[in-house]
This record gives sequence, C-alpha cells and structure tokens, in this order.
Amino acid sequence: MYRTHTCGELRIEDAGKEVTLAGWVHRSRDLGGMTFLDLRDRYGITQLVFDMRQDEGLCREARKLGREYVVQVKGEVRERSSKNKKLPTGDIEIEVKELRILGASEVPPFTLEEESDGGEEIRMKYRYLDLRRTPLKENLILRHRVAQKIRNYLDAQGFLEIETPALIKSTPEGARDFVVPSRLHERQFYALPQSPQIFKQLLMIAGYDKYFQLVKCFRDEDLRADRQPEFTQVDCEMSFIDQEDVLQVFEGLIKELLASVVNFKIDGNFPRLSWDEAMQRYGTDKPDTRFGMELHELTDLVKGKGFRVFDEAAWMGAICVPGAAGYSRKQLDQLTDWVKRPQIGAGGMVYVKYNGDGTVKSSVDKFFAPEDLRSWGEACGASAGDLLLLLSGEKERTLFAMSELRLEMGERLGLRDKRAFAPLWVTDFPLLEWDEEENRFVAKHHPFTSPREEDLALLEKDPAAVRANAYDLVINGVEIGGGSIRIHDTDLQARMLDLLGFSPEDAEQQFGFLLEALRYGTPPHGGIALGFDRLVALLGGGDSIRDYIAFPKNNAARDMMADAPNYISEKQLKELHISFRG
Ligand code: AMO
Repeated sequence: MYRTHTCGELRIEDAGKEVTLAGWVHRSRDLGGMTFLDLRDRYGITQLVFDMRQDEGLCREARKLGREYVVQVKGEVRERSSKNKKLPTGDIEIEVKELRILGASEVPPFTLEEESDGGEEIRMKYRYLDLRRTPLKENLILRHRVAQKIRNYLDAQGFLEIETPALIKSTPEGARDFVVPSRLHERQFYALPQSPQIFKQLLMIAGYDKYFQLVKCFRDEDLRADRQPEFTQVDCEMSFIDQEDVLQVFEGLIKELLASVVNFKIDGNFPRLSWDEAMQRYGTDKPDTRFGMELHELTDLVKGKGFRVFDEAAWMGAICVPGAAGYSRKQLDQLTDWVKRPQIGAGGMVYVKYNGDGTVKSSVDKFFAPEDLRSWGEACGASAGDLLLLLSGEKERTLFAMSELRLEMGERLGLRDKRAFAPLWVTDFPLLEWDEEENRFVAKHHPFTSPREEDLALLEKDPAAVRANAYDLVINGVEIGGGSIRIHDTDLQARMLDLLGFSPEDAEQQFGFLLEALRYGTPPHGGIALGFDRLVALLGGGDSIRDYIAFPKNNAARDMMADAPNYISEKQLKELHISFRG
C-alpha cells in the first residue's frame, strides 16, 4: 500500500496513529536541529517533521530533497506545537520514521505557489506543473462537479447521453472546419465536428427523443479569451417540443447550477428579450444585464445644428453614466482614445456633463445651446452629477462601440460584480444575415433552424425580415448557449437551402443524408448547446476559459507543451497521398 491517508485527511483525532503518506515536496524549512517539509497531493498539505536528535541520518536525507520530489513517508501523527489555522491539517504533523524517494524532480522553472512567478508562456509549456497549483486544481475540480451535476439533472429528466462520431463530413456551423486526410480513401478528408448538429437531428429521427452529450467540438476560428479551437458543449436535442419546453428545461438546469455551485438563488423565470430589443437597449445580442446604463438613441434630436459629425451620422446614441460628471479632462481624453482603438472602432466621442450646480458642460458647446444639451439629458434620464457619453456613425458599428463603452464604464464603476449572475434569454433572432464578402444571405444560426411560422410568407419576398425560432442563453454578457427549433419538413428545408444559395446538387452533396432522413418520418424537434467551458469559467469567476481546460491551446491555436501542430514524417505524408507544392 503506497499510502494509508491522503495529505489533506489527517486531523487532531488521528494523533498517535502510524500512517503512510505519499506526495510532492512543496516546501522545506530547516530550523536548528529540525527539518520541516510540506508534503502535498491533490487533497491538501501535511507537515512532516524530521528531528536531528531522533535520527540524524534520516534528517540529512530529508535536507537533500528538492522541491517537487515525490516521496513516501511512514511516521506517527502528533499534535503540532504551533498550529496553522489556515490548513485543515494544521493541527497535526507527522514525525517521520521512514523516507523513500519515489521520484526525483528537477528544479521547476517557476514557483508552484498560489500566485506563480511564471509568465503565461512558460506555464503553458509546463502545463503539467502549472496544474499542480491550487487555483488550477480547483478549476478542474469545479469543472468535474459541474459536469456531474449536468449529467444528473438531465438523466433525471429522462435524457440519454449518446456519443456521436468525431470523424465526420463537414457540418455547416459558420466556422472553418479542421480536416483529417483519409489514408484509405485517396484525396478524401474527414472533418472534425463543429458541433454534432446533424447527428443529433438524426437521433431525433431515430426516435431518441431526449438526447444530450458532453462533447468536444472543433472550430478553426480567431481565438479570444472565451474561444478555443477545441471546446466542449453540453449538446442537447428534444422531440415533440416547442421553444418553451427547451427554455424551461435549460432554465431549470442553470438555476440548479447557480444555486448548488455558487449559492446564487433565482426566483421566477429568466427575463426574455427579443433580438431587436436587445440590440436597441444594449447594442448587442449578449447584454450584461447586471447593471443598467442602457443605450438611448438620439439620432433625430441632435441633427440640424450645424455639427457635421452628427448631421452626417446614420445613428447617434448615448449612455448616461451615473455620478461621473466629475470626470477630468484627462480621463475623458483617455476614454476617447479607448473608443477610437481599432477593436472598438468609434471615430470619436462627445461628452456632456450635468454638473451638480445645474450647469452643463460639453465637448460640443460651440454647436449646441445649453437647452439642447439639457434635452439630450432628459431623453437619457440624466440627473445632476451624471455624464453623458455619445457616439455616432454607421449604425451597426456605432451600436457595437456603444455596447463596448457601456461594458467598460460598468467595469470602471464596479458594476460587474463577479458574484452576481444575470441570466436571460434572447429570442426572435433574424433567420438570415447578409454576408458582404459572399454577397448572399447566410444562416445566422445554421441552415436547419426554422423560420417563425408567421414570417414564412416573407421568406422569398423580404428574407432579412424573417425571424427564426432561435434563442440564446446569455449570462453576464457572455453567450453561454444557443439553439433553435429545427426545420422538420423536407420542402421547407429545400426552400431554405435554396435561399442560402445552395444548388440542389451542392445541398445533396453536403447533407443529402439529412435531407433523405427527413423524408422517413421526422418528429418536430429542437435543442440547444451550452458552451461548457464558458459556463464553468462563469461559475468559477474566471476571465479566460483556458484556466478551466486541462490542456488548452494558446491564442495562436498552438499546444505549447506538445508543440502542436507540427510536421509529420515523409512516410506518413506518403501514406496519406499528400505532397506539398514548392
Ligand atoms: P453555437 O454555435 O451557438 O450552437 O454554439 C453553442 C455554444 O458553444 C459555445 N462556443 C464556444 N465555446 C468555446 N470556444 C468556441 N470556439 C466556441 N464556439 C461556440 C458558446 C455557444 O453559445 N449546434 C448548435 C446548437 C444548437 O442549435 O442546438 C451550436 O453549435 O457558448
């Protein structure tokens, strides 16, 4: 037996017991005739004591141990004279009688403490060492617990977890595919699933009316803090349901997770916002509703006073920042630079201060009389002491910049409390969006999402006006999940593919098997997929999903530790019938 107890287990009641522990040398201290080692494993830390007077040889052995050596010790549990209240095992120590080195360690390239001194890159390269640190360990434990809770919840609701293949034919989810060349079929490729979308629909046709899966998905897209090239979805699909059924099941799941994992209780239903309303009030379809500071459109109010920037703007709007009229010139200049950064893309920013003494001061005093400025304030609900920040320009871009500015001001004012959770559903998405590059409509969600029945007549007449039976789950400004009610009628699916510019041959070539399956008795069905990494990061209060994935890729989609992607041998290339030009 390698160990009788873990390093997090022993308490004062165990004093006097002979025990065997195994773990990593976390720290060591030599104090006169004594050596103290902190022995660490996944469960905690236990102090070991070696006494020169008791066993000089053993104590000298212990002094030679470096950090991160793996050792096994046998000894007696005894009460500590100076107790450590911060450790659950802090009342006891082990008086060591035998010591065995199980694995030596080189000096780690960074400290494995709560806060490491290692930079991101080196920690990614030695991820297995970084994972020994408590914060990452706790993140992975949280991930495990959340996964178990999800499985239990869905199992109790009658869902079956069914695996779907990872080597598939390309599924159109809007990103680029990762592809895998076939050795057996020259010049042919598998794609890795961007999601199991088509397979879960086929499972509905097969009669498995409640499916779920914690599943890896792969998308070759630009990465950000909340995007990885491979990530995990809680993927679900249900038959004989409508949108309301899906929302109820997953609202219940989120409520249960919030209550049991972070002790955050929500009574009543999650708010629902139509896509139009979300865009209007927040400038984004994933609003952070932990705070107000909503957008106000002022386009008509500001025109015609000779200020060209406003007169020429297609859209003009403002947020009212409570209590910020005291912002200095320097702070406002910094904020202007901030909105002008390419990631935000505003041309500039106008401000109006509604001072406590009733005066009004703005950056456009030359063009607008105080009454004008006051009328803007009224339109935005500004009170004395508030600051109005205005952006103008092309509508979509300005809405985006406004929503980013709103988040930034929320952050600066401390309104984005990590311990608060504000879930909501965004519904009634447009079915299609215009793709400038491709010069055609593309599916906003995916080509299998059904149009709202009352909008069907518009499908060919005014495609942009058609709303979808699609919904997103948004929490604290993060898109946690998205789903839709699917098209279950072959003719409608064909109409949709036609609208998206697929010729019948292309459609047949790409997903002929789904179109065929739809003809064999398809129940009405729909579902949702939650981004599992995002959900766990949100519950853990983290900023990046990377910290909740055991072995993530960096921002350039590289595995820094294994150094992937990488070249493969000539032999492998030959077997795969691949050769490179040039
Ligand atoms: P969608 O594409 O909206 O829907 O994806 C569902 C959820 O997956 C998460 N997500 C990601 N997480 C990390 N890294 C990524 N690169 C990434 N991309 C997406 C998001 C998102 O809300 N098949 C449909 C679902 C359905 O219709 O049922 C789908 O995949 O949290």
